[in-house]
Amino acid sequence: MIRIIPDVLDADGIARLRAILDAADWIDGNETSGPQAALAKRNQQLPEFGEAAAEAGRIILDALGRSPFFIAAALPLKIYPPFFNRYAGGENFGDHIDNAIRMRRGTDFRIRSDLSATLFLTDPDSYEGGGLVIEGMTEPPGLKLPAGHMVLYPSSTVHRVEPVTAGSRVASFMWVQSMVRDQAQRNLLFDLDMGVQGAAATLGQGDATVVRLTGVYHNLLRLWADS
Ligand code: NI
Repeated sequence: MIRIIPDVLDADGIARLRAILDAADWIDGNETSGPQAALAKRNQQLPEFGEAAAEAGRIILDALGRSPFFIAAALPLKIYPPFFNRYAGGENFGDHIDNAIRMRRGTDFRIRSDLSATLFLTDPDSYEGGGLVIEGMTEPPGLKLPAGHMVLYPSSTVHRVEPVTAGSRVASFMWVQSMVRDQAQRNLLFDLDMGVQGAAATLGQGDATVVRLTGVYHNLLRLWADS
């Protein structure tokens, strides 16, 4: 299931990020690809270990940490430090599937990619093409969200970025290892969470039914989550 997380970044956050990204040097995007993805990928990327990626990545991770909707949907255990990419002049990323395990070179950080996330950083009206097509979930021409919005989707799906035929498309992407590995369990917890919050808004947090259902949520999380 795909989930759209609106307004991960506000206008101020987007402006701060764009200032960092516009001043940075970009390199060929194939630095980070596995062999299959490298064949399909034509874009530019910020150097993974550069200061610009680190600074911009911190802004995004801070924002995600303050997003209850992201936390409810992803139940994140670990997030791979965000990457930044740019497509222009017909560049695209053909059909591929993201690697299951990512290791960060020179560190002991490793992550299982349960969810992939794209945070859009350019206004969709400012470029042509560049839609994100996720097999079985979005139809061509694909998803183009307003700047500051994020899409979360299962890393197990084949996906692509359509060629950008005019303007340029800048985005950040990252992988999330969820505390709840199983997608069906994660979706069920999300639905229950939303239901409990809805009931709490109507009945109040102290209502006996709300207390009981909140307990069910946490007890399911206790059963299914790794921390
Ligand atoms: Ni991908």
